[in-house]
Amino acid sequence: MTATVIAKHSYADILKDAAKINWRVEDLLGADKPLDFSKPFLPEALAHTRAITCLTADEQLALNHIRGNSYLHLFGLVEEFILPLVVEHVQSIGCVNIEATQAYLGFAEEESKHIHLFRQFAAAFAAGFGHRCEVIGPASAIADFVLQHSPLGVALVTLHIEWMTQRHFLDSVRNHQGEPLDPQFCSLLKHHWQEEAQHARLDALMVQELARTLDAASIAAAVDDYIAIVQYLNEGLKTQVQLDLISLEQAIGRNLTATARHEIQQIQEKSYQKVFLGAGMTHPNFVESVQALSREGFAKISAIAAQFS
Ligand SMILES: [Fe+2]
Ligand SMILES: [Fe+2]
Repeated sequence: MTATVIAKHSYADILKDAAKINWRVEDLLGADKPLDFSKPFLPEALAHTRAITCLTADEQLALNHIRGNSYLHLFGLVEEFILPLVVEHVQSIGCVNIEATQAYLGFAEEESKHIHLFRQFAAAFAAGFGHRCEVIGPASAIADFVLQHSPLGVALVTLHIEWMTQRHFLDSVRNHQGEPLDPQFCSLLKHHWQEEAQHARLDALMVQELARTLDAASIAAAVDDYIAIVQYLNEGLKTQVQLDLISLEQAIGRNLTATARHEIQQIQEKSYQKVFLGAGMTHPNFVESVQALSREGFAKISAIAAQFS
C-alpha cells in the first residue's frame, strides 16, 4: 500500500471511553420529555433561517423546526448504510484482535440504537409540530446506492459524517452563544455526539485497515467512490430543500411568492451543503486521514469541498 498509516487511536482506549456512556432511547424521548416548539431546535449556525428576509420571526422558527426534523432524519438515513458497513467489517476481521471486534460490535449496536432514536424522534416531532414534513428517502434505497461502492469509499463517507457530527456539536450546540434552544433537542444531540466520538476514532482505524491491503489504483478508485457518494448526497440535500419549502408553506399557512421561494432556496441549499458536506470534508481529522491515503485524492476532495464551504 502507498499510504502512510499512523495508528493514533487504540481499541483499548475506545472501549474504555465507550463504557462510560450508557443511555437508552427511552431516557431521551417520551411523554414526560416533550419537545418545546416555542424554542428553536437547531443553532443558527446549523439552520441558517434568520437571514431569510421574506419570513417573519415565527416563520423562521417554523423553518428551524423543519430543519431540526430533517437534521435527525438525515442522520438516521446515513446510519442505515453505516450499520451494514460496520457489520461487514466485523465479519471480515473476525476475532484475531478481540478488542477490535468488541469495539466494532459496540459501534454497530450504537448505530442501530441511533436509528431507533431518530425514528422515535420523527414520531414525537410529527405529533408536536402538527403538520406533515416530507423527507428524502427511503433510507433503504439510499443505502443500496451507497453500498454499491467500495468499502473504503463508504468508510470515507462514514468518517466524514462522524467528524462532521463532532464539529456540529462542539462548534455550534455545546456553546450555543445564548440561543434559547429546546433543551430536549439539545440533550438528544448531546447523547448522540457522546457515542459518535468513539465512532469517529473507530472509523479512522477502519479506513486504515481497509487501505492496508490496497494498491494506489484501488485507493484512487475509493476516493472517486467517496466523491460520487458526496455528489449523490448533494442532490439529495437539494431535494430536501424543495420538500422543506412545501412543509414550510403548510406550517405557515400561506403560499410563498416565486421571489420568496428563490431566496429561501438559495440560503437553505448553501446551508445544507455547508453543514452536511463542507463541515465533514474540511474537518482536520478527516483531512489527516485522506492525506495519509493519497495526496492526489486529497487535492481532488479539497477542490470539491471549496464549493460547499
Ligand atoms: Fe449515530
Ligand atoms: Fe456514528
